[in-house]
Amino acid sequence: MADQADAVPTPDGAMTPDEFMVRLRQLKEWTGLTYRDLEARSRSTGGHLARSTLASTLRRNALPRQEFVEAMVRACGLDPAPWARARRRLAVLHAAAEPAADRAPGARGTAPRQLPPAPPVLVGRDAELGRLARMLGAAPVTVISGPPGAGKTAVGVRAAHLVADRFPDGQLYVDLRGTAPNDEPLTPAEIAGVLLRSLGEGDARAAADAGEAAGRLRTALSGRRVLIMLDDVASAAQVRWLAPCGGGSAVLLTSRATLTSLDGSRHVRLGALPPDRARQALELFLGAERVRGEPEAVRTLADLCDRLPLALRIAAARLAARPEWPVRALVERMADPRRRLDELRVDDMDMRASLAVSFADLARGRDEAARLAVRVLGLPAEPPDGQVRTATAASLLDVPPDSAERALERLVDVGLAESSAPCRYRVPGLVRLFALEPNGRREPAVRRRQRRPAPTRSGGRRRSARRCSATAPS
Ligand SMILES: Nc1ncnc2c1ncn2[C@@H]1O[C@H](COP(=O)(O)OP(=O)(O)OP(=O)(O)O)[C@@H](O)[C@H]1O
Ligand SMILES: [Mg+2]
Repeated sequence: MADQADAVPTPDGAMTPDEFMVRLRQLKEWTGLTYRDLEARSRSTGGHLARSTLASTLRRNALPRQEFVEAMVRACGLDPAPWARARRRLAVLHAAAEPAADRAPGARGTAPRQLPPAPPVLVGRDAELGRLARMLGAAPVTVISGPPGAGKTAVGVRAAHLVADRFPDGQLYVDLRGTAPNDEPLTPAEIAGVLLRSLGEGDARAAADAGEAAGRLRTALSGRRVLIMLDDVASAAQVRWLAPCGGGSAVLLTSRATLTSLDGSRHVRLGALPPDRARQALELFLGAERVRGEPEAVRTLADLCDRLPLALRIAAARLAARPEWPVRALVERMADPRRRLDELRVDDMDMRASLAVSFADLARGRDEAARLAVRVLGLPAEPPDGQVRTATAASLLDVPPDSAERALERLVDVGLAESSAPCRYRVPGLVRLFALEPNGRREPAVRRRQRRPAPTRSGGRRRSARRCSATAPS
């Protein structure tokens, strides 16, 4: 192994696949290990890196597969997490920004068409899709917000496809990684870089700051009609520089945060599906026959999933993998609150991991509203409607009503509660279960993500708390 005084190579600062590969080669040099040594060490840590693969991959400048990076760094005796994170990030940035094959970089040629495919059927969102179709193009910025797993991406992508022909100069799509469990949100400069490259305008890395990059983006968009879908926005601060982009272009954002402080924005809020639509979604996922035989169990299953599309999708996938099970078998498992989140996991779909990111962001907040909001999540729902009232929260937490209101509003702002009327809030059952889990159970999911603190985490919705202060505690 190399002299420990040598600086250990890290992937920090790699902005392109080439630069990443240079660092990976430096890492091998630093260890002083041969390909043969690395092969043997990889085998001893459960990997299977062949010498020939190591040699040929390290010779190239293309990003290697994720498993290769992890196995190699582990064989070098280091924590693979930072390298894996850097590789994933570069893959996102460069795949999204790949210019169309038949268009020379820098040329205004074939319009980019980057929208991912929309899910074939979306249940119960016709009204929202209709509103979105009217807004897109009429308003410069359209925001779809809602709790984790409500279907924001699915609905956004579908709406973008519906209006695509209004934007003949292209449809861009970038996942901003706002709540990706293993990643950090893209920075404004990174977003600008991806968009500029997608538009064939070169890379914005040379721009001094996000402001300059934004100016270049506006220039690139002038005289064009482009739809820009930015999925999974972390906060208003992440996208404020961009919106509105002006001209005939439009921006469609999806976010768990409300983002109402963005200039020129119009909003569509997605919540839980209505009960009949949640049943219909299960019917779609599972097949009508299986669902019709057990109407009561299906209704209960939908409620245990908070009627959220992601949870319904996971429950259905669990049942699809066990065709012999009656629906009630899963209901019985999920009826135990301690097991419910464990049951809502299949392959890479994981309700706990999805909630963990939002919870971790909230818990990181240093202000009083964030601290109280975490405590509010542990409060019991009030009969008969299962809501939390401002006045009751204030008295249970022993704080002034204004403070309780700000905490509850913060929960709405970050997508962890709904408010259908002033002073009344509903914390979804799965969110509450997550918040009540002992630290050890939520920590692994939370720890995976180590992000820089974002400047502001909320969308800026700050209704006056005074209106509710007069409500007497019940
Ligand atoms: N209305 C719907 N009908 C059927 N399936 C849906 C519907 N909405 C979403 N889905 C499916 O539910 C899953 C979760 O949806 P999606 O990823 O869009 O949620 P999200 O709100 O974007 O989640 P996140 O907060 O993590 O970004 C996906 O598999 C999606 O295809
Ligand atoms: Mg999403």
